[in-house]
Amino acid sequence: MKLPIYMDYQATTPCDPRVVEAMLPYFTQSFGNAASRNHRYGWEAEEAVEKAREQIAALIGANPKEIVFTSGSTESINLALKGAAEMYAEKGKHIITCQAEHKAVLDVCKHLEQQGFSVTYLQPDKSGRVSVEAVAAALRPDTILVALMWANNEVGTLNPIREIGALCKEKGVLLFTDATQAAGKVPVDVEADHVDMLCISGHKIYGPKGVGILYVRRKNPRVRLVAQMDGGGHERGMRSGTLNVPSIVGLGRACELARLEMPEESARTAALRDHLEKRLFTELDFVYLNGNREHRLPNNLNVSFAYVEGESLIMGFSDVAVSSGSACTSASLEPSHVLRSMAVGEDLAHSSIRFGIGRFTTREEVDFAATQVITAVKRLRELSPLYEMALEGIDPKTVNWQAHH
Ligand SMILES: Cc1ncc(COP(=O)(O)O)c(C=O)c1O
Repeated sequence: MKLPIYMDYQATTPCDPRVVEAMLPYFTQSFGNAASRNHRYGWEAEEAVEKAREQIAALIGANPKEIVFTSGSTESINLALKGAAEMYAEKGKHIITCQAEHKAVLDVCKHLEQQGFSVTYLQPDKSGRVSVEAVAAALRPDTILVALMWANNEVGTLNPIREIGALCKEKGVLLFTDATQAAGKVPVDVEADHVDMLCISGHKIYGPKGVGILYVRRKNPRVRLVAQMDGGGHERGMRSGTLNVPSIVGLGRACELARLEMPEESARTAALRDHLEKRLFTELDFVYLNGNREHRLPNNLNVSFAYVEGESLIMGFSDVAVSSGSACTSASLEPSHVLRSMAVGEDLAHSSIRFGIGRFTTREEVDFAATQVITAVKRLRELSPLYEMALEGIDPKTVNWQAHH
């Protein structure tokens, strides 16, 4: 077993060796510029890019012509939201999103607010989910765009994208969905799900970092975007810049592997996740699930351990690489905005840990991690007077500490 055990698959994934193998010839042999029309080097590169476009389109039920290559989901989100807002500003200036979205979406929305757009930030339910009714209630005559993620990167909750897509279609409003965590983990079909724009990132699906796509619908309706990167007119004018051929080839292969192996892989990771969850919940008390038991990613488990602090807990088991719900954004001590939007209390938000299970996780690793976490939680709680009170049935929140002075 290689230590520390990697259990942070929502942060990033290693490249699958089969992906690396597919990429290698495009660094030194077929190194051409995909836009070179006059020689074999260019044709080879272009052919490889078009094959990748097909592999990616097949994963999400799209037409290859609807795939725009970018540097990753952050860029795709910027292009989708700013590009649509600028293009359709005449029609209306209202956008609907959710408080639990990734910062890339929230920060772009803030930027658009400064440009005169009005944004509704829906609060999700306690499990992190947005209902189609909540979206329907927020729609206005001037709404041009709904931006809601398929799967949440912290708690793994899935939004009812198909229902929301049907609603948006009926109302003539564009739907963008951030499928960074969903693609390759749960079935995605842009036709059946009525999605107009969608992003995928290479490094979340066993492909390389720094490459991604934006799916942009071409029919019913034809979505038009204002480019955010000018120069050269690549990618149907939506994203200029010489294509990163090796990475695009890698992303294509990663999507192909995801499509072929998803049913088996999702069942396997879900079984490992359930095993981890069962051990944590049976061998410890005062453990809480953050997320939705029914509508969730197969490979994510986010739990709060009351009466311990997430950061100290993580330091208590250095042989497992995971993320905590506090201090996750740089140096700030703010608890995660996702947990806050789900109305998870401050204390429980600070004691949350996200476990990500992936293609290369073994049962042996899951058991090792579970034992480490359980031991660390028990050790920290031995030092906690609050935990002792809780065991005696006293809720520390109801104690009037002042009275002791
Ligand atoms: C849901 C979600 N959206 C967007 C991003 C940003 O993706 P990228 O790293 O490709 O810019 C991430 C990854 O951090 C994510 O998990």
